[in-house]
Amino acid sequence: MRRGGIIALAIAGVAIAAFGIIQLRPVARTNPPVTGDIAAPATIEATLRRSCYDCHSNETHWRWYSAIAPVSWMVAHHVELGRKEIDFSDWNSYYPATRRRKLEWMGRALHEEVMPPFSYRLMHPGSRLRDQDRAALEQWINTELAQSEKAPGH
Ligand code: HEC
Repeated sequence: MRRGGIIALAIAGVAIAAFGIIQLRPVARTNPPVTGDIAAPATIEATLRRSCYDCHSNETHWRWYSAIAPVSWMVAHHVELGRKEIDFSDWNSYYPATRRRKLEWMGRALHEEVMPPFSYRLMHPGSRLRDQDRAALEQWINTELAQSEKAPGH
């Protein structure tokens, strides 16, 4: 075998070994209990589940590739960050003011079309929001905000 061939084989060997080694680092792929799921009209809930729940709920659908490093690290990190920002499974435990703030963020994220994130949309075309989904979500957010303004204890 020529020298170039041996070097290529050695590089491939190292790459395969490295791939094997990184699989050993454990990644927590958890779904904590659902304590207070958001109560939204059926169509809104369906859209949130389809486009947002994988990262913003405790009902993440952990797919096969999310078990393979380094993709697993990225996915677990996204879910952790996403749940920290908004967790629809804990929605009812938020204070009204917190809920309002999160609704406002959602309105902004929808307006700017930054959610779901681009990489996720690529992997899951079904998660993309159509114009009518976005419009319905925005309308629901505005209704929720208006109602919470009127609620006692505001
Ligand atoms: C692939 C995972 C993923 C999906 C799916 C996803 N998000 Fe996010 N989201 C994140 C992550 C990670 C963050 C925190 C980091 C950031 O702001 O980019 C975040 C942050 C947010 C924030 C707060 C941050 C801000 O700057 O306003 C809002 C609001 C939000 N997401 C709304 C949504 C909505 C609504 C959907 C569904 C239409 C959705 N997300 C779908 C991962 C996701």
